[in-house]
Amino acid sequence: MKKIIIAIDGYSACGKSTTAREVARHLGYVYGDSGAMYRAVTYYLLQNKVPLDDPQALQQALEQINLSFKRDEEGNLQTWLNGENVEAAIRSMAVSERVSTVAAIPAVRRAMVKIQRKLGENKGLVMDGRDIGTVVFPEAELKVFMTAKPEIRAQRRLKELQAKGINATLEEVMANLAERDHKDTTRADSPLKKAADAIEIDNSFMTFEEQVEKIISLAKERMQE
Ligand code: CDP
Repeated sequence: MKKIIIAIDGYSACGKSTTAREVARHLGYVYGDSGAMYRAVTYYLLQNKVPLDDPQALQQALEQINLSFKRDEEGNLQTWLNGENVEAAIRSMAVSERVSTVAAIPAVRRAMVKIQRKLGENKGLVMDGRDIGTVVFPEAELKVFMTAKPEIRAQRRLKELQAKGINATLEEVMANLAERDHKDTTRADSPLKKAADAIEIDNSFMTFEEQVEKIISLAKERMQE
């Protein structure tokens, strides 16, 4: 069967990453978490107090950033930034509150898209994000646009954060998701939108297994075309 690229886009916290990771595992594909890349850049810029309105400082900072993804002992993918495991740090509310501002900067997007396209060079990739089917891989064989009701997304994200020992309230999480969705859909460069040829899946009332199954069966159809 031919190898394909699967692009999964959608709003914040609608389960794209967990679904994409499981689909990739099942198919023996590489999983690319584009959101983790924008989060890692945001973390670096915050740590190094880089002024976002200084193009030269920003460009210099982007050249210092070396991102990689490695599995831990349990097989979970971890984000590494310049030799440091930043997986926990990039999920903090401090990063969540700034990431959409950073992700709206064209120079940041150019740098991340380059890394993302490299991951897809040999196909056999599942990548989730906001502009994967529209900008990064417009030729992807399968494009999924995931949605879920805002209250359901906030509840799920709060549970995830709590499991990681990160403190937050439901109100904070809901406000953060609404703000990011607004910024992500209204920015000038690569806004979040459903690609014309994407299949929309609302997973508000689907189980995790059902969503994964659905995408795998769509992928198998595309692999045979
Ligand atoms: O997991 P969650 O839905 O909270 O977000 P994420 O996928 O980790 O992405 C974090 C942020 O990165 C998003 O809110 C976007 O601002 C940005 N992002 C983007 O601009 N383009 C992408 N392809 C992926 C993420």
